[in-house]
Amino acid sequence: MILTLLGAPGAGKGTMARQLAKKLQIPTISTGALLRDEIGSGSMLGKEIDALISNGNFVSDETIISLLLKRLEEADCQKGYILDGFPRNESQADQLSQLGILLDKALLLSIPDAEIIARLAGRRECPNCRATYHIQYNPTKLDGVCDECGGALQIRADDTPEIIKKRLEIYHKQTEPLIQYFRQKGLLAVVQSEQGVDDTVASALKTLGVTL
Ligand code: AP5
Repeated sequence: MILTLLGAPGAGKGTMARQLAKKLQIPTISTGALLRDEIGSGSMLGKEIDALISNGNFVSDETIISLLLKRLEEADCQKGYILDGFPRNESQADQLSQLGILLDKALLLSIPDAEIIARLAGRRECPNCRATYHIQYNPTKLDGVCDECGGALQIRADDTPEIIKKRLEIYHKQTEPLIQYFRQKGLLAVVQSEQGVDDTVASALKTLGVTL
């Protein structure tokens, strides 16, 4: 199965992707995490990416597609995968089909903008394994420590009020048109993401027609 998760910054794509990946036994590929890993490597490309995404801007289609294709060559992607954050505009969606990558579903996590601020203000991320938590909605067992790998949690550089506002504006302008794009192709499935994490994941599995 090849899925993509659509939704505004903070809609819960990363959280959903990790839960679905465990249940469906396929990897999740977050383009945001690929970019943050490149930044963490200290490369020249990472420095260029950092300047863009820490200001809320997209990186070029060329950069993102080359990082994605490299990841898709890995053996764990043979049986399918979940794309978190790709495609993010119509050009990326067109390139996906030109590359012969056929999606089974595009799952939209629907959430009002007002809720996003609370979500991103309380988000904490593990820089080692990229697990995300929320200090109130999805807390770790030990304060500040990743449940999955024991890493020290951090606040993302792009989770400041002004950058969140900019990311939301870019989302509405560039990514939201993909909702209609996938609807017209008969691939769109929608889940309300205002429920807690477990209920949202259960709704997603039902919407996708997956019984485990
Ligand atoms: P990316 O990392 O993909 O950021 P994003 O799309 O802005 O999404 P977020 O990661 O902020 O949110 P999310 O929807 O994953 O929510 P999460 O699960 O963490 O990309 C970062 C940047 O990289 C982009 O801005 C862009 O610059 C660049 N980029 C990436 N892909 C690109 C591309 N294809 N092309 C060009 N540029 C690209 O949840 C948020 C919080 O809510 C967490 O604290 C979580 O615990 C909590 N939460 C989640 N679900 C629930 C729930 N159901 N109930 C209560 N709380 C919940």
